[in-house]
Amino acid sequence: MKLYRTLLIASLTLAAAQIRIPAAATRPSQHTFAIGTNDFLLDGERFQIRCGEIHAARVPREYWRHRLQMAKAMGLNTVCAYLFWNQIEPQSGKFDWSGQADVAEFCRIAQEEKLWVILRPGPYSCAEWEMGGLPWWLLKYDDIKLRTRDPRFLDPARRYLKEVGRVLGPLQVTRGGPIIMVQVENEYGFLGKDVEYMGQLRQALIDSGFNVPLFECNPAGQLRNAFRPDLFPVVNFGSDPAGGFKALRRVLPQGPLMCGEFYPGWFDTWGSPHHTGNTPRYLGDLEYMLKNDESFSIYMAHGGTTFGLWAGADRPFKPDTSSYDYDAPISEAGWPTEKFFQTRQLFAQYLLPGESIPEPPAKNPVISINPVEFTECAPIFANLGKAVSSKSPLTMEQYDQGHGCIVYRTTVPAGQAATLEVAAVHDFGFVFLDGKEIGVMDRRKNGFKIELPPRAQPATLDILVEAMGRVNFGEEVQDRKGIHGPVKLGTDELSDWKAFSLPLDKKMLGHLHFAPAKNSGPAFWRATVKIESPGDTFLDLRSWGKGVVWINGHCLGRYWNIGPTQTAYVPAPWLKRGKNEIVILDLLDPEKPVTAGLPQPILNELHPEKDFARVHRPTVTLTLNTAKPVLTASFPAGTATQEVHFDAPARGRYFCLESLNAHDGKPYAAIGELDVLDAAGQPLSHEGWTVAYVDSEEREREDGTAENAIDGQTANFWHTQWGSAQPDHPHRLVIDLGKSQTVSGFRYVPRQGGEDVGGRIKDYRIYVGDALIQR
Ligand code: GLA
Repeated sequence: MKLYRTLLIASLTLAAAQIRIPAAATRPSQHTFAIGTNDFLLDGERFQIRCGEIHAARVPREYWRHRLQMAKAMGLNTVCAYLFWNQIEPQSGKFDWSGQADVAEFCRIAQEEKLWVILRPGPYSCAEWEMGGLPWWLLKYDDIKLRTRDPRFLDPARRYLKEVGRVLGPLQVTRGGPIIMVQVENEYGFLGKDVEYMGQLRQALIDSGFNVPLFECNPAGQLRNAFRPDLFPVVNFGSDPAGGFKALRRVLPQGPLMCGEFYPGWFDTWGSPHHTGNTPRYLGDLEYMLKNDESFSIYMAHGGTTFGLWAGADRPFKPDTSSYDYDAPISEAGWPTEKFFQTRQLFAQYLLPGESIPEPPAKNPVISINPVEFTECAPIFANLGKAVSSKSPLTMEQYDQGHGCIVYRTTVPAGQAATLEVAAVHDFGFVFLDGKEIGVMDRRKNGFKIELPPRAQPATLDILVEAMGRVNFGEEVQDRKGIHGPVKLGTDELSDWKAFSLPLDKKMLGHLHFAPAKNSGPAFWRATVKIESPGDTFLDLRSWGKGVVWINGHCLGRYWNIGPTQTAYVPAPWLKRGKNEIVILDLLDPEKPVTAGLPQPILNELHPEKDFARVHRPTVTLTLNTAKPVLTASFPAGTATQEVHFDAPARGRYFCLESLNAHDGKPYAAIGELDVLDAAGQPLSHEGWTVAYVDSEEREREDGTAENAIDGQTANFWHTQWGSAQPDHPHRLVIDLGKSQTVSGFRYVPRQGGEDVGGRIKDYRIYVGDALIQR
């Protein structure tokens, strides 16, 4: 311990020393920032960081100042911002800091608004952003190991960080700028334990000119993984600050305590209820941290919108909505919510000497737009560009395409009805035979089989694949899009494919041929609308199916009629006085090709009945009565992760946890996270996992969806119904591992949160087998 403390203080004093000796700063530094023995020190004075997260990429640049003024008016003294490598280096070796990627400008405005900046450049960022911020072109290497010391990953990562240093280095406090701290990677403890990997990234940031304190963030349970004394640790949590900081003190016996991500709400995924936070608890925990001189960063203070095709997906595959409202204190359109005013009021009681809180800026004007009928459309199959031929279908990346859609075409012989099966489709495969839609292949439930009808003569088979965002968390970020071959018809492998890339970028949109609309199948629709005085508005997309929407060439994001989001935020600066062009790609068929501008967003309207996967989960029969449990045992009370090993390994495709009762004696069961351990006791990858069966899940009053138990996030959870019904135990959750596996045990993370939360399972049984589920 004594050695450790000397090491930590030594490295931090060194950093502090570095801080005081400005390098070739662009401007003499007027301020100093350091990590002291007990406190953060700004100009040598105690500094409590009241920080909030805002992503420049998720706010129209014309509104950066407005949102930063809102942050200041909420009582924050610092903003925290991720960088997204894939946005800054869209093509290998080509950096683009223009437009929404101009983070240097964002930082300068933050400084002008008297806010300090904490920078989180990655290279991996997570953040419900496409591939967690990693560039898709890394996936051109078939066997690359992302987020490791694989040189095919680390070399471009270093090159990127060098570029970040070139552009943002001059904005460090040491050189007169607002940047006080820089994060290395993001929650790496969730993925690995390679201390050297973190060391290499740390060094890369130092070599690229960063001399402010470098830190790392992890949830409480992962703080020890890959811990380095020369990286200041912060802990991420959504509640129970006392517990979080207790865990942090185990790796940081001395020094200021900081929560790197404190969640006021949460993000939404398509098909699941909109998330809203527990505000009284949020305010209580904030006050607790303020009172105890602990620092924090509210994730998100303002979520904004994930414009374009940048929205990621939670694992195993739960695509994120484009709205990133996050139930944050500052709403998606930058409006002050009740939570904003409550936070502002609270912070006003804990200001540091010399600090004050300005009035919030005026709300930006909001308009409505009368309903607009779309009369022109450009069918996808009439707008296919040049084809690329290949014997077998390749993934999108192998065709050098990063995002959007792709059509795979081949000819199938005349013959009997037969099963068309693809190894995997990322993410949705709309199947057409001679232009007639036959069905949809759906990654959410590993549904990659479709029955093809009998064919009198050879027919053209088209599989239109829509790639949604790449998974942004866990190993699953290795998310290659398109078709993962082979493709079989019956037992015959289909070959000689033509692929038509549809990158949905500006260039492609500019080449579409629009014609008077008629029933069109998957198509782009176009309309123009006259606007007298532009204002913020929300495009109503409830009568459309599934796709992407643009206004005046700006891609507003994805939409999907299953919800929960039913509108797309349109920032006024992207509208023009006079004619405005709206283009909507609909991969299904609109109920009515009409939209309008609403003065309010719709963030919480679910329509499971409109889901082309008609049923949320295929009807199966659970046969436990003939099965023998592998284990009957009890979980202790509390929130601690339980790792359970069986006396002898079991084998099977299905893993079933059956709750017999709960610690609070109530009829509910809940699970924060489940991992299944392989023969060597290591967690199996969740790739290809689905929920095969669940007897009950709350999906009205909150998002208690069963998939929450296998998505890697401990902040959300599966919860049995408690709203319109309260079915009693036994409750069963069955995971389909995708194929038969040897299982030696499992890891159970109870529902997190305070003592009073329900659903913590007490007695339970485990079943493993191939015959638990009859389809
Ligand atoms: C994690 C990540 C963040 C974000 C949140 C969920 O903690 O670090 O980037 O993904 O979860 O919103």
